This record gives sequence, structure tokens and C-alpha cells, in this order.
Amino acid sequence: MNLKNGRKQIGISAAAVVAGVGCLFLLNVFGVPSGPAGRPTGGQAVAASGELDAKVTAFLERSRGRWYDMNVPEQDGRLLYDLVIKGGYKRALEIGTSTGLSGTYIAWALSKTGGKLITVEIDPGRHGEAMANFKEAGLSGWIDARLADAHELVPALEGPFDFVFIDADKEWYVEYAKAVIPKLAPGGCIAAHNVSGGTGGGGRRWGRQPGTGEYYDYMAGLSEFETTIRGRQTAVSYKKK
Ligand SMILES: C[S@@+](CC[C@H](N)C(=O)[O-])C[C@H]1O[C@@H](n2cnc3c(N)ncnc32)[C@H](O)[C@@H]1O
Repeated sequence: MNLKNGRKQIGISAAAVVAGVGCLFLLNVFGVPSGPAGRPTGGQAVAASGELDAKVTAFLERSRGRWYDMNVPEQDGRLLYDLVIKGGYKRALEIGTSTGLSGTYIAWALSKTGGKLITVEIDPGRHGEAMANFKEAGLSGWIDARLADAHELVPALEGPFDFVFIDADKEWYVEYAKAVIPKLAPGGCIAAHNVSGGTGGGGRRWGRQPGTGEYYDYMAGLSEFETTIRGRQTAVSYKKK
């Protein structure tokens, strides 16, 4: 698939959104890392969670059915949210913003950990739509959206990062990994989308795209990382402490 032109559509069911709000309630009850409403806990503001949750949830419900730009399915967005919350991550990087669905989930979680997301997109139209979506979701304050070629920008970013989501041109995944690994904090996490296994045959089920099998092989071969496939198509690699 040509990432710059290909399109796919997802739907977010109302039941799933309601279930998500329920999950958030439980997460908040059982100790999600967040400070008192509206107060910073280390550099970045923590949201007044009830108000923001309502705004983000309403946005996701309103926008259901209008995510046409290769955006992640809802369950993968939720996985990203959970990874950030569970790790208490605060310094996130996303490669491949598109119109901002995965960025919405990541930034929503960062609004609770007191973190910030840098997200990179090369296409001006999608970058513009993402900015509008982040604003509508109430999450602009947690996002630094860059219009740039990630091949150039990612190696130039200073870091450190503790959470990275790779979801851009698949044939460049290994290069992205090489650029971010030295900037990844111990205990940090790299999630990569559309990866379902290595080149040995295990990853063919979901129509593996060129580059993603090589990415899996590369990450699985690094002794300082623990790499597994989560859900149907997200490789999650934790950097050992
Ligand atoms: C699969 S989409 C990202 C979907 C997004 N993560 C979401 O779920 O909402 C991949 C995006 O990567 C962008 N992209 C491809 N090559 C890029 C590059 N070299 N630098 C920055 N963005 C790039 C494409 O324009 C496209 O919008």
C-alpha cells in the first residue's frame, strides 16, 4: 500500500466509547498516575480528568466513521493509551500523525501522566486536519505537531523519549528504530503498527507490508529489548532497565 495515498476507514462503536469511559473510570479509581486536577506533575499540565475525558469521548463519538486516512483501528488506539498509562510515560514521539487518531489516544493518556507528544507528518493536508482534530478533542496543549519529513526530523530530535509510536512508511521502520533507540530511556517502549511477525512466515496473516517483517526481526534480535506482538498488528518493544 502506498502510505501517502492509501486510505482505509474505521468505525468506533458507541458501545466501545461507553466501555472506554468505564475503563477510564476504573483506571482513575485504581490509581492512574495523575496529579490533582489541573496541576503540573513534572513540566506538563495534568488535565482535570472528568472534564477532558468528556470532551475527548464526545469528540471520538462525533468523529466516528470519518477516519479515512490509514488511521489505527479503535482497539489499537486503546492499546496505545494503555501502554502510556501503564508505563507512566511522559516524553512521547509519534512518527506518522495522519489526521490524528492515534495521536488523540496517546495525548489523552499523556494528559493524565503529565507528558507531551511530538508527532510528525509529511503531508500538509493531513497535518492541518490533525491540528484541527487535536483542538476539537481539547488535547492541543499536550501535542507538538510537526509538519516535516520524519527521515530528517527524527534523527535530529534531541530526546530523550520514553514512548515512541512508529506508523509511517513501513520500509523505513528499521531506520526509525535505529534513530530512536539511542534516545529511548531505560524501561521505555517502542510500539510499531502493522507489524505481525518476522520474515520467517509468522507474520503473513494480516497482509504483511514490506519492511515490517524486517523490523520485527531487527527488534527481536536486540538483546536489550523484549518484543512481542500485541493485538493483531502492533509490535511492542520494551527497553530493559
Ligand atoms: C498509517 S498513516 C498514520 C496513521 C496515524 N498514526 C493514525 O492512526 O491516525 C501513515 C502516515 O505517515 C505519513 N508519512 C509517510 N512517510 C512519512 C515521512 N517520511 N515523514 C513523515 N510522515 C510520513 C503519511 O503521510 C501518513 O499520513
